[in-house]
Amino acid sequence: MLTVLGIESSCDETAAAVVRGDAAAGRGAILSNVVFDQMDLHAAYGGVVPEIAARAHAEKLDVAVGQALEGAGVPLAAMDAVAVTVGPGLIGGLVAGIACAQGLSLGSGVPLVPVNHLEGHALTPRLTDGLAYPYLMLLVSGGHCLFLIANGPGDHERIGTTIDDAPGEAFDKVAKMLDLGIPGGPKVEAMARGGDAARFRLPRPLMDRPGCDVSFSGLKTAVRMARDARVAAGGMEARDIADLCASFQAAARDVLVEKSRRAMALFRERLPGGASPGFAVAGGVAANAALRAGLETLAREEGFEAVFPPLALCTDNGAMIAWAGLERHAAGLTGELVPKPRFPVASNPMAGVWTGKRGAKV
Ligand code: KG4
Ligand code: ZN
Repeated sequence: MLTVLGIESSCDETAAAVVRGDAAAGRGAILSNVVFDQMDLHAAYGGVVPEIAARAHAEKLDVAVGQALEGAGVPLAAMDAVAVTVGPGLIGGLVAGIACAQGLSLGSGVPLVPVNHLEGHALTPRLTDGLAYPYLMLLVSGGHCLFLIANGPGDHERIGTTIDDAPGEAFDKVAKMLDLGIPGGPKVEAMARGGDAARFRLPRPLMDRPGCDVSFSGLKTAVRMARDARVAAGGMEARDIADLCASFQAAARDVLVEKSRRAMALFRERLPGGASPGFAVAGGVAANAALRAGLETLAREEGFEAVFPPLALCTDNGAMIAWAGLERHAAGLTGELVPKPRFPVASNPMAGVWTGKRGAKV
């Protein structure tokens, strides 16, 4: 049994948590899980402002850690490790988190474990459900879209990714172009609920291409063009917005479901014989009910065991960092304690993967 404090500050959540568990068995107990979101600070700007985020992390990290330790009822000195996100993410937030963790470690003598934020998401189904390795992972968030075969801590094979935008990014941009406010994903989903998904004919990008890479940039542009056409034709009524949101959400779901089907086939090819392998979905977009329903049906059809960690553990949190740190510590894995805005989680090289305008998305 190990007890680990986890610290997360890579984007706009300041989070700390204490997790206790046995890495070999999988499944851990979350003793405390404190998350401060910064939504109010960024709302006026329509998105996360890195400088504001970094300052807010610096101000709130010690409060989050204090509450996490108190909530768990375990003193810092009794921790087996302090795990901290070192990337990928916004540099200012990463620096603030690392500085906080270093201070805690220096003062207490508890060892530090650097954690990749994406590995935090990827190992969450072990924390919550004790999912056995190897399993197929779909990570869908505001910054990432990844199909991984998770073989063990520090051992993940990427079999698909986005060649441009992440799905959450597309939801956020659609929300912005329709003036729905933030957070974009939940706003679009709420509007889509009353809408007609068949009203606007939107593309399902990359369906004709083999493999499980995805693309959301063209879909986003198609939504913008549909909006502009409606505006030119007399304006967007509430019904138009609902129908456009529903049509967009259905297109995004169709793409992710079809690519997941292919990822499952690839998984079976690589690892034949597994009776009912796990298919885990995490990241903020996994909160989307339409997507969940589509992926659950798919998993049933393909003989995979679908695992959706609870919503609070799908979005950014400290418990996932604590758990990934716990598994890494138990396996004797170390890493560099330096902030890495870009930090691939997969062990296989980037060859053949589109790296986008600003470098690799994975
Ligand atoms: O994993 P996450 O909390 O942060 C990172 O990006 O790492 O994911 C946040 C993303 C945002 O883009 C948000 O709009 C999206 O997840 N999201 C959703 C929903 N809830 C959050 N997208 C679609 N439907 C939702 N219900
Ligand atoms: Zn995340």
